[in-house]
Amino acid sequence: MSSWDGKLDVVLVGGGMISLEVILPTLFQERREGKIGKISVSSLDAKSIKRVQNEFPDEEFVSYPDPKEVDDENKAYPDAYKDAIDTLDERGFVLVATPDHFHTPVIMYAIEKGKDVVCEKPLCLKVEEAWKIQNAAKEKGLYIYTDYHKRHDRALRGIKYRVGKGDLGEILYGHAWIEEKKEMPLKNFAAWASESSSFEYIGVHYADIYYFVTGLKPKRVIGFAQKKFLPTQGKDVYDAVEATIEWENGSVCWIQTNWVLPQSTTSLTNQGFQITGTKGEYKADHKDRHCYIVTDDGGYEHYNPNFFKIFDSWNHPGKTDYVGYGYESLLQGYDDIRDILAAIEGLSDEDAKKKREKMIKVYEETRPLPNQALIGTAINEAVRISMENDSGWVVFDENMYPRLT
Ligand SMILES: NC(=O)c1ccc[n+]([C@@H]2O[C@H](COP(=O)([O-])OP(=O)(O)OC[C@H]3O[C@@H](n4cnc5c(N)ncnc54)[C@H](O)[C@@H]3O)[C@@H](O)[C@H]2O)c1
Repeated sequence: MSSWDGKLDVVLVGGGMISLEVILPTLFQERREGKIGKISVSSLDAKSIKRVQNEFPDEEFVSYPDPKEVDDENKAYPDAYKDAIDTLDERGFVLVATPDHFHTPVIMYAIEKGKDVVCEKPLCLKVEEAWKIQNAAKEKGLYIYTDYHKRHDRALRGIKYRVGKGDLGEILYGHAWIEEKKEMPLKNFAAWASESSSFEYIGVHYADIYYFVTGLKPKRVIGFAQKKFLPTQGKDVYDAVEATIEWENGSVCWIQTNWVLPQSTTSLTNQGFQITGTKGEYKADHKDRHCYIVTDDGGYEHYNPNFFKIFDSWNHPGKTDYVGYGYESLLQGYDDIRDILAAIEGLSDEDAKKKREKMIKVYEETRPLPNQALIGTAINEAVRISMENDSGWVVFDENMYPRLT
């Protein structure tokens, strides 16, 4: 192995909304800062690759498929990501930002090729797939991180710390709400909204947060869902999904979600969280950060300076920096992978695997690696089973497999 300049190469499989708005700006920024090397982007068709090229005309990246070599820009290349991963350098990783139901095949291919992974949430939609990912990754000593960015929001990290110290006493119950505009199922996710739901797509953030904050595992789940507006728009998609989750200490959390908010809502996402214990309560509106901007062009907008926002750069005059918990969460994955690759530099395969296992064991304590991301997946699957079975109770076995009672 030649000595390493410390730059990670990356294959991004996705190229949609989260890639354009958060992942690629982060990758380009980190390349500017010297942490990321070659960037490749694989998307389903040349049309979506062209959109990325148009959004970032000054940034270089390798495209799969390459629009220059394709006659029909709408033709699907569902396996092009494999070609991209096959060319990835040994100091490279795979970033998965495909629709929720298409994470597992990409992750499994990356694992087969011996690559570490950063994946958008949720890790996958089925517990069986989460275990398949976990077992395959363990066999090779690979790092698989899920981007549950809310864990990096100081408004939530703070309450995790206080709950951990016992300041709220025994946890009794919680309440979370996360709701998005109609444009999500009607426009942005029109291609795959029927394969997911507002719970699986966004509600899972707060299911993961209850687990992150309390350390408790879910015991049983009941889910409800309504289809009233979206079918009138020709979409066989749920408007709203709600769940009641009972946790192992007997506490209960209610999570309400929808993706049919009026387009005039003052930010894309309406969201917040309450948690109550025997000694105290936490309640926060994560949309209204007491900050708004009103302009002739944009009207009234709630402004969350903490998620992923652009600011004038301190170190690059005339340029900008992206800052916030959306950025920090992705960075945690990149930095961990860089640290692992640096630590195994020059080691034999056997020693490298041992070193990887040792480092991953520590990360498993605090990060959403598959052992922790499993909880969000299990709750997602349980809610889906319950809501499709007349809102029956769903329980979990010791491996978190859900079962209708
Ligand atoms: N971390 C977060 O909070 C957050 C926020 C938004 C979305 N997400 C997650 O990120 C993922 C992607 O969301 P999005 O908003 O970008 O969705 P999107 O529908 O806008 O984009 C999905 C992209 O995947 C591509 N794709 C589909 N099949 C492919 C294949 N076989 N090979 C290569 N590319 C393929 C499509 O071309 C599309 O560009 C979802 O899992 C979503 O839940 C996470």
